[in-house]
Amino acid sequence: MKKAAALLMLSMAIAFAGCGGAPQSDEAKDNTSVSEPDGGAAVSGTEASDGDLLADGVLTVGTNAEFPPFEYVGDDGEPDGFDIALIKAIGDKLGVEVEVENMEFDSLVASIGSKIDVAIAGMTVTEERQGMVDFSDSYYKAVQYVLVPAETDIASAEDLAGKTIGAQLGTTGDYMIEDFEGATAKQYNKAVDAVNDLISGRLDAVIVDKNPALVFADKFSGEIQYMDFSFEPEDYAIALPKGDAALADAVNGALAELKSDGTFDELVSQYIEN
Ligand code: ARG
Repeated sequence: MKKAAALLMLSMAIAFAGCGGAPQSDEAKDNTSVSEPDGGAAVSGTEASDGDLLADGVLTVGTNAEFPPFEYVGDDGEPDGFDIALIKAIGDKLGVEVEVENMEFDSLVASIGSKIDVAIAGMTVTEERQGMVDFSDSYYKAVQYVLVPAETDIASAEDLAGKTIGAQLGTTGDYMIEDFEGATAKQYNKAVDAVNDLISGRLDAVIVDKNPALVFADKFSGEIQYMDFSFEPEDYAIALPKGDAALADAVNGALAELKSDGTFDELVSQYIEN
């Protein structure tokens, strides 16, 4: 698509997102403030680099489709899941085409701005990542769970000391392992590979986010179980290129609109809480 046309469509989509027909709460209106003159001007400005990312009409999104129910490879071989549906809905609001690239979780952040425009991957907002990328408004609350064999002597977080613990490489679960005195960390490219090693006795525990933990515990019920040790709550957000305020405003505006028009809750019940 021609850049000017894409920018026009984008600003129209944003303006539309801000003035939808359905009544909105004041809070929702505040969140869609991108339709206000400042935000609009930034997006349709010509000299600023802001907004250029969407100029070709395509939003290239990185994910790691090894994290059900947020992302997994569907029966048709394409990435599917809550995050994928959410970013496609955001793309619809912005009038851009969404192309999903499935890659290693650990390389997502570094790929933003080169291989991909943004990343959605059940990614937790952390200070370390904030040094490299910006994050959208948070869209989901998460927490780390611990998967253990059906038969285990692990009953509390303290019991993880000295254990052999698996996690997906580069995840918040992975970073937590060093907190447990004398524990040995084993890193995997896919959480499911850690789960398989747990089942075959090569690991004592796996640390993974709550919703994937529930999916794995259900899939391998009788062999493994999940434990909630009330670790620190985490927030999922979309990772964005650093300093692209126009893109952040556009994404946050679309997200707010999806929340106020009910689409977001529909996706939650379709993919997560079903
Ligand atoms: N929430 C964790 C983190 O940000 C794990 C995310 C893993 N996501 C994935 N698609 N494999 O580190």
